[in-house]
Amino acid sequence: MRKVSVLLQHDAVVGETDPRLFGAFVEHLGRCVYGGIYEPGHKTADKQGFRHDVLALVRELAPTIMRYPGGNFVSGYNWEDGVGPVEKRPRRLDLAWMSTEPNTFGTNEFIDWCRLAGIEPMLAVNLGTRGGDAARELLEYCNHPKGTALSDLRRKHGWEEPHDVRFWCLGNEMDGPWQMEMKTADEYGRIAVEAAKLMKWIDPRIELAACGSSGRNMPTFGAWEDRVLQHTFAHVEYISLHTYVNNYAHDTPALLASPDLMDGFIEEVVAIADSVAARAHSTKRIMLSFDEWNVWYRTRRSSDVRVKPGWPVAPQILEEIYSMEDALAFGGMCISLLNHADRVKVACLAQLVNVIAPIMTETGGPAWRQTIFHPFAQMSHFGRGRVLRAEIDSPTYAASYYDPRGSADLHFPLPSVPYLKLAAVEDTGTGAITLFALNRHLEQPMPLEVTLRGFGTPALIEALQLRHANLKATNTKDRPDRVSPSTLTGVTLGVDRMKATLAPASWNMIRLGRPG
Ligand code: AHR
Repeated sequence: MRKVSVLLQHDAVVGETDPRLFGAFVEHLGRCVYGGIYEPGHKTADKQGFRHDVLALVRELAPTIMRYPGGNFVSGYNWEDGVGPVEKRPRRLDLAWMSTEPNTFGTNEFIDWCRLAGIEPMLAVNLGTRGGDAARELLEYCNHPKGTALSDLRRKHGWEEPHDVRFWCLGNEMDGPWQMEMKTADEYGRIAVEAAKLMKWIDPRIELAACGSSGRNMPTFGAWEDRVLQHTFAHVEYISLHTYVNNYAHDTPALLASPDLMDGFIEEVVAIADSVAARAHSTKRIMLSFDEWNVWYRTRRSSDVRVKPGWPVAPQILEEIYSMEDALAFGGMCISLLNHADRVKVACLAQLVNVIAPIMTETGGPAWRQTIFHPFAQMSHFGRGRVLRAEIDSPTYAASYYDPRGSADLHFPLPSVPYLKLAAVEDTGTGAITLFALNRHLEQPMPLEVTLRGFGTPALIEALQLRHANLKATNTKDRPDRVSPSTLTGVTLGVDRMKATLAPASWNMIRLGRPG
């Protein structure tokens, strides 16, 4: 491959990453809660039943905010079922995942788990089977200090101090026919704005995200965002986006190109939000909450992998086993998020444990890292700061990405996909620059030359690569480190310059220090 050049200039900046860009998601779904973060009786579990082997991996992964309790689950959830004495909590049918929900873990346990993990909680309210009334009651229960029935109920349940949850999702994927009590954009917009009003009257410090489309390929995408924001514009701070990329077509180049569609999706939602602002003659800018993103397809389409018969508790569903190539596509999605740090202020990797997750467990057994764990952990640790606007000169390839979600099977042509996908972030404290770089060529190494204008001569702190000769290689209980980062050798530095050779089909993180 010919030389690939990147120009970074000190004053050319996309924006600053918000700490909430590095979030994840815990849903009552399969073994995410039960057998995932919570497993009383497990040898590492504490008095509350929290698995500490999982907690150790969560700390290493370093998510900053955690969305809960769904997902599709929230659209049928009665939050009252999950609080109070555990022995009195009802078991319920969960129609999202055809399971039995035992409710032995609920909002208060989730908040305790977040505090223990050092993670900000993000709660979603049920705007499917319920509405503004249940939403305001949950908020009063969580955030009001004391002296009302619901705040005193929380105190009676053992949580004297308010939970002080600041970020709230107004429902989940309300445009999807799979959603309990799916709505049209106008129906949802009306319910969302009324719920938002009640919630902010109780606690004006909260921030709210309205549901955007559940995918770019939904038939109502675009019109949905426009109508929903026309209803909610004055009352919310965020609109949500969801994307799961796939390799149904067994077309790895197309899978690795798919994060470029995520770039387009983000830019389209920004344009729609700003057009609503323009029509409202407003300078307010709605920010984006990319509150579900990942690779997901093997455990998605057929009901036999999604639903187990007999209404089981915590069935083994959506337990996607991630490969090396998934980690590459996933890394590309990380880069897309970073490069839109000016407008994407919140993002949640869906999900955290067992269910389409970076962390896997065996119930009663060990926990380990999936392949996608590594790009996320690197991004969360070193992606904080000023995202630099990278000018990239790279050869390209053509791909066609197949995406079956929604009512039709769609093919997205991608005529010009640069082999290099890259984000560069400057740590505002130390001045260190971290490059996240994906070589999407499956056979050829990439000679990379980065010009760093206005930074002085850099020094190498660390260079890591994630690659495997077999793109289908996975991490398993018995071989948990088969796909894991190794040192990238051969990085050279000169005046204003860094050179490296990126292996074919590799994810790379290169950290450069500023001269002292
Ligand atoms: O993350 C799995 C599911 O994907 C969520 O419950 C839903 O919101 C989305 O369709």
